[in-house]
Amino acid sequence: MAAVTADQTTQAKAQGTVQATAGGPDGADGAQLAAFDAAVAADERIEPRDWMPDAYRASLVRQMAQHAHSEIIGMQPEANWISRAPSLRRKAILMAKVQDEAGHGLYLYSAAETLGTSREELLDKLHAGRQRYSSIFNYPTLTWADVGAIGWLVDGAAITNQVPLCRCSYGPYARAMVRICKEESFHQRQGYELLLALGRGTPAQRDMAQDAVNRWWWPSLMMFGPPDDASAHSEQSMIWKIKRHSNDELRQRFVDICVPQAEALGLTLPDPDLWWNEERGHHDFGSIDWTEFQEVLKGNGPCNEQRLTQRRRAHEEGAWVRDAAAAYAVKHHAEKHTTPTPTAEATA
Ligand SMILES: [Fe+2]
Ligand SMILES: [Fe+2]
Repeated sequence: MAAVTADQTTQAKAQGTVQATAGGPDGADGAQLAAFDAAVAADERIEPRDWMPDAYRASLVRQMAQHAHSEIIGMQPEANWISRAPSLRRKAILMAKVQDEAGHGLYLYSAAETLGTSREELLDKLHAGRQRYSSIFNYPTLTWADVGAIGWLVDGAAITNQVPLCRCSYGPYARAMVRICKEESFHQRQGYELLLALGRGTPAQRDMAQDAVNRWWWPSLMMFGPPDDASAHSEQSMIWKIKRHSNDELRQRFVDICVPQAEALGLTLPDPDLWWNEERGHHDFGSIDWTEFQEVLKGNGPCNEQRLTQRRRAHEEGAWVRDAAAAYAVKHHAEKHTTPTPTAEATA
């Protein structure tokens, strides 16, 4: 495959060798696979109309759906605090952030639709518990400081994971991630700034910030997924350049970023085994409780049921909005395509 150059790929695309086979069988045509492999090897983008292996398509749908679902389920724990934000400024910031997350879901469902799936189908699978969302959102937001800890740690972990996705081999996903990452970095900063304000506040506010960080630290590390040797999809995803770095590599990067930030906040990270390893040039950290991770994944986290019930209810209650939007689209389409008859014009 390495012998096929990027120029040959472009040529193959121009000659129509690379074809759209949405939903079709894996191409028996070796040239199609060679062109795909060469495009990936040359860091070119695979676009919706290009031929792609069925397994690549399925892997992207799985990952993008899980990502989209996480964006919209992730609105719930924070929305919990909109009505109780301590000031108008904080309320406006939080509302904007939660709205951003809805937008991220929208970009990602739209990007997934370019692979031949529909938003309706993906939402049905989420509601039926057949597709996942990030386990981090199955933890409760107990105090106002949790809004800060989520912004700093959860959005921070999301950015660490997602910046490399801006170079993902699938074009629509990569492009959606560029905008998402810009907004995520605003989310991370608002969380950090919120914790900074609490850290400089009264002893009770400082304790509240520390307590939130204590509860969110370990689940944030779990956001990078299982260790590399136990990760089912990682290796193939890296070959396809959907993923650029391993779970453990990204987790290490996140820990190294957070340690000096925690110091600047005047907060501690709840890990007695966290220390700078001069030899490695990285921080060593304690072992993660993967049993807890598996339990939350299985549906036994503190809020799994609440999150899905709320999501299903929101979907049902929003049915009239979808119906109205669809009726409006039909009416608008009909108006656009109806030209008045000469008689009607004459009469007028
Ligand atoms: Fe987001
Ligand atoms: Fe975010």
